Amino acid sequence: MEEKNHIYPIFDRMMTRRDKEELLGQHSVMIWFTGLSGSGKSTIAIALERELHKRGLLCRILDGDNIRSGINNNLGFSETDRVENIRRIAEVSKLFLDSGIITIAAFISPNNDIREMAANIIGKDDFLEIFVSTPLEECEKRDVKGLYAKARKGEIPNFTGISAPFEVPEHPALSLDTSQLTLEESVNRLLELVLPKVKNI
Ligand code: PPS
Repeated sequence: MEEKNHIYPIFDRMMTRRDKEELLGQHSVMIWFTGLSGSGKSTIAIALERELHKRGLLCRILDGDNIRSGINNNLGFSETDRVENIRRIAEVSKLFLDSGIITIAAFISPNNDIREMAANIIGKDDFLEIFVSTPLEECEKRDVKGLYAKARKGEIPNFTGISAPFEVPEHPALSLDTSQLTLEESVNRLLELVLPKVKNI
């Protein structure tokens, strides 16, 4: 019956992002890493989450391991599939942000249009673009997964940096070159940027 809602009109109102941020004692922001395969996006994301967690801040990391193997396991690396990959990631991120959770995404997201789409879905005020600017030569030298070698031999089509483009971000909030910075230095730079935004509640 409708009666309950007339007596307690507050029941009509869904709990808001602000309510959840207050519950958690934090502001939620989107920390969006972009960069080549092997540039260090996930490594930095994991170390950053650990540091924020230590400070009592709740985060959620989205990366290839939990997204491309699950919700996006029907997508490949054509331009259309990459757009759809990032669109879904941005929509999922928004759900986490609306739950008050600091959301950290680590995807190549190879061009300005794709990153712009993600920022528009999420909301530009909440979107911190972090460019992991490790040069291609270094990523290829590391070749952690052996994919660059395969891509050079033509065994992987559309491989970012080799046979598919990567556009350098125009105005990232921060650039981190992991061939020049230690992991600790990268995380410290991120903490300087992120902590004032998430703790001021
Ligand atoms: S994208 O461009 O944002 O949709 O890519 P992303 O979801 O981040 O997936 C990148 C990881 O997938 C592996 N992989 C490829 N990368 C680029 N191009 C091609 N063709 C490709 N095929 C597989 C690769 O290991 C990337 O891993 P990371 O974690 O970035 O090193």
